[in-house]
Amino acid sequence: MKLEIVILAAGLGKRMHSALPKVLHQVAGHSMLSHVIATAKALNPHKIVVVTGHQGELVAAEAQRCAAEVSLSCCRQVEQKGTADAVKAALPELTDDSVVLVLYADTPLTPLDDLKQLLDALDQTSAQLMLLTCLLADPTGYGRIVRAADGRIQGIVEQKDCSPEQLKISEINSGIIALPCRVLQQYLPRIDCNNAQHEYYLTDLTGLIVKDGGQVGALTSNNFAYLRGVNSKLQLAEAERTYQRQQAERLLTEGVTLADPDRFDLRGSLEHGNDCYIDINCVFSGHCVLGNNVVIGAGCIIRDCVIDDNVVISPYSVLEQSHLKPEVTVGPFARLRPGNTLEEKAHVGNFVELKKAHLGAGTKAGHLSYLGDSEIGAGVNIGAGTITCNYDGANKHQTVIEDDVFVGSDTQLVAPVTVRRGATIAAGTTVTKEVPADALVLTRTRALYKTHYQRPRKQKK
Ligand code: UD1
Ligand code: CA
Repeated sequence: MKLEIVILAAGLGKRMHSALPKVLHQVAGHSMLSHVIATAKALNPHKIVVVTGHQGELVAAEAQRCAAEVSLSCCRQVEQKGTADAVKAALPELTDDSVVLVLYADTPLTPLDDLKQLLDALDQTSAQLMLLTCLLADPTGYGRIVRAADGRIQGIVEQKDCSPEQLKISEINSGIIALPCRVLQQYLPRIDCNNAQHEYYLTDLTGLIVKDGGQVGALTSNNFAYLRGVNSKLQLAEAERTYQRQQAERLLTEGVTLADPDRFDLRGSLEHGNDCYIDINCVFSGHCVLGNNVVIGAGCIIRDCVIDDNVVISPYSVLEQSHLKPEVTVGPFARLRPGNTLEEKAHVGNFVELKKAHLGAGTKAGHLSYLGDSEIGAGVNIGAGTITCNYDGANKHQTVIEDDVFVGSDTQLVAPVTVRRGATIAAGTTVTKEVPADALVLTRTRALYKTHYQRPRKQKK
C-alpha cells in the first residue's frame, strides 16, 4: 500500500485571537503542526502534503523544518472554502494508486495506534472510505454520524445542519478519514456548498459514496481526549495538560518518581535510569538524560543536559547544555548557561553562574560567582564573589586555574590569565597576570585604623 497523507493546516483559527496561525501554536514547546507531522512520519508514508492558507508562508516554513527524512510538499488553498476545498488543493500532489489519509493540523495529539487501525481496516474491508469516529456524552460542535436501522453509515451531518433528532446522535466524526486516492478523485469534484455554512464539506464524501451504492466504514476510537481539535486557547491548554499527563504517567510507569504528575512539564525527551526523583514544577526541554538516583528539586528548568548518577540539583536552578558527572551537586538558585562540564563531586552553589566552564573533580564554587570561559582543575576552592572578567568589551578570554588552587572571596580574575597549581589568592585580589605555583598573591591596600574616631555631626543652623 502506497500511503499519502494530507494534513489540513489552512484554517484561520479566529477563536485563538492571535496574530500567529492556529496550527503554529505550541503544545509542549512544539507547534501543533509539528506534532501532526511527526505522527504522520511514524506511518512511513510515501509522501506528506500540507495544505496551507492563512499566513501560508509561515506555516509552510514550519512544515519544511519538520520535513527531515520524508518527502513533504506544501500546497496553497487560496481561500478557506471548507475542508473538501482544502483537500482539493492537495489533489494534484497525490498519486492515483495511493491510499490517502486526511489529518487535521489542529488535532495535535492524534493517536498513532488509531491511524494504524484505520488503515488496516480500510485494507481489510470492502469499504471505499473509513472514518474514525468517537462516542461522546456531549457531541456538541461535531459532525454527527448518521446510520441506518441496520447500522450501515448513511452520511455525516455537520452540527449546524442537524435536525433536532440528529443533534441527539452521540457518534461524532473525528475528521480523520482514509480512502483510496481514486475514490477521492471521483467524488471530490461532486461536493457542493449547499449547506448552512456555504462551505465545501469533506464529510459530504460519505453521503455521495453511499448514494452510489458504495460502502463507508467506521472505526470507533476510545481516545477522544487525543482526537479533540484545538480551536481556542482553552482547548490548547487542555491539549497541553492531556499531553503532559500522558508523559508523566509513562515516566511513573517506567519508575521515575514525580512529586506531582500534574506539575511536571516535558517539552522534549527525557531518558532516565532508576530511582530518579523529580520535585514539582520542573520543566525539561530538548533532550535530557538522567542516570540513576538523580534528585531534582522543585522549579528547576533543564534543557539538553546529561546528568549522571547520584547528582543532586537543588531547587530553582536553570541548566542548559551541560554535563554533570556523578555526585555533582548544584544549586539552589544556580545558573548553568551552555557549555559546562562538572567533573565528579564538583559543587556549584547559590547564585553562581557558569558559562563554558570546566570544573575539575571535587572543585567547589559555593556562592555568588561568575565563572565564564574557564578551565578549572580539581580540588579548587572558589570563594564567594569570585568573578572571571572574561570580556574586554570586544573579545572573550580564557581563565585557567590549575588543581588545588585556593581563590579567596571577592577575587577578580582578569582574563586571559592563569593561576598555577597550589597557588593561593587572598580575598579581595584582582589578578591580572599569571600566578606561579604555590605562590600567594594579594592586592590589597593597607588598612588604616584610627582609635577614638569622631564622626562628623550635623551642624545647627
Ligand atoms: C470538522 C468536520 C466535522 C468534525 C470536526 C472534528 C468538516 C466539514 N467538518 O469540523 O465533521 O466533527 O472537524 O474536529 O470537515 N481547514 C482548511 N481549509 C478550510 C477549512 C478548514 O485547511 O477551508 C482545516 C483547518 O485548518 C483545520 C481542519 O481543516 O485544521 C478542520 O477545520 P475546522 O473548520 O476546524 O472544522 P470543524 O468545523 O471543526
Ligand atoms: Ca476544528
